[in-house]
Amino acid sequence: MTPQKLTFTLNDNPVNTDTPPDARLLDLLRTTLHCTGTKEGCGEGECGACTVLLDGLPVNSCLVPAFQVQGRHVRTIESIDPRFTEHLNSTNAAQCGACTPGVAMTSFYLTEHPELLKDTTIRQFMSGNLCRCTGYDGIINGIQKALDAKEAR
Ligand code: FES
Ligand code: FES
Repeated sequence: MTPQKLTFTLNDNPVNTDTPPDARLLDLLRTTLHCTGTKEGCGEGECGACTVLLDGLPVNSCLVPAFQVQGRHVRTIESIDPRFTEHLNSTNAAQCGACTPGVAMTSFYLTEHPELLKDTTIRQFMSGNLCRCTGYDGIINGIQKALDAKEAR
């Protein structure tokens, strides 16, 4: 298949590249652009490990065709301030770490939009990000710490 030209913004930087027309955004990030912080879990939209922000909204990058990011802004874990992820580290929210970049991206979105918690709980909001290791309490506590820190600023 003939590669397609693709121009978009990745973590505030312009990207000009080629992509096979059947590539997923996850493949574009990890294989073509060597941006390997984003992880593949299930590969079929079930686990959330591959979550990135597309024009500010969390998406499963294993379900997004790469060509759909033409002209758009993709944000990955590499762009997240370590002070944010430190909140997750401080509550032992990561064990094997496979889910952690996806958890961080979804929870970063939540801390940017805390008004969403009027209609849901942190646990419910994070239900698309599966973790086989932690039992979720560390994740929920870390997100609460990040929200509290943001409120205190
Ligand atoms: Fe994309 Fe599981 S790898 S949702
Ligand atoms: Fe292992 Fe979440 S820390 S899957």
